[in-house]
Amino acid sequence: VHWSAEEKQLITSLWSKVNVEECGAEALARLLIVYPWTQRFFSSFGNLSSPTAIIGNPKVRAHGKKVLTSFGEAVKNLDNIKSTYSKLSELHCEKLHVDPENFRLLGDILVIVLASHFTRDFTPSCQFAWQKLVSVVAHALARKYH
Ligand code: HEM
Repeated sequence: VHWSAEEKQLITSLWSKVNVEECGAEALARLLIVYPWTQRFFSSFGNLSSPTAIIGNPKVRAHGKKVLTSFGEAVKNLDNIKSTYSKLSELHCEKLHVDPENFRLLGDILVIVLASHFTRDFTPSCQFAWQKLVSVVAHALARKYH
């Protein structure tokens, strides 16, 4: 992938304002609510029986923060995203057996969360850059699948 200077700037400047704990928790909760089949991977997280339960579930919050923190590695390594996620790709593929389609779903949800938090600052150009980023991350995570 090639990133223009403008795309890099749009990604890093928005990222510097992201509250990783809040947005990470919200993104994972939305994934579990909007695409309920994803709950199957998180059976050890306890009560996921309703949107309220999911949003209030501390394990969902903690894991959402972990996932978005990991997403930050992509932001820091824009020119090296594949190798950044090679271990995580192995984990999600070989150990967790997460269907890679779910990486795309989570990426789109993250874009929606960012749009709802940043409203007017989330301009079309900013969305373009972020949409590209979530797609590159989804590809990188899917790379070890065979
Ligand atoms: C674990 C990142 C998407 C399911 C993890 C961990 C990270 C991570 C950093 C912790 C790894 C460790 O403990 O060493 C990401 C990123 C994603 C992503 C960056 C996409 C942007 C998904 C999706 C699912 C999923 C879409 C399922 C629908 C899991 C599960 C675990 C896990 C089940 C283990 C949870 C546990 O029991 O602790 N992921 N993940 N991940 N991920 Fe993902």
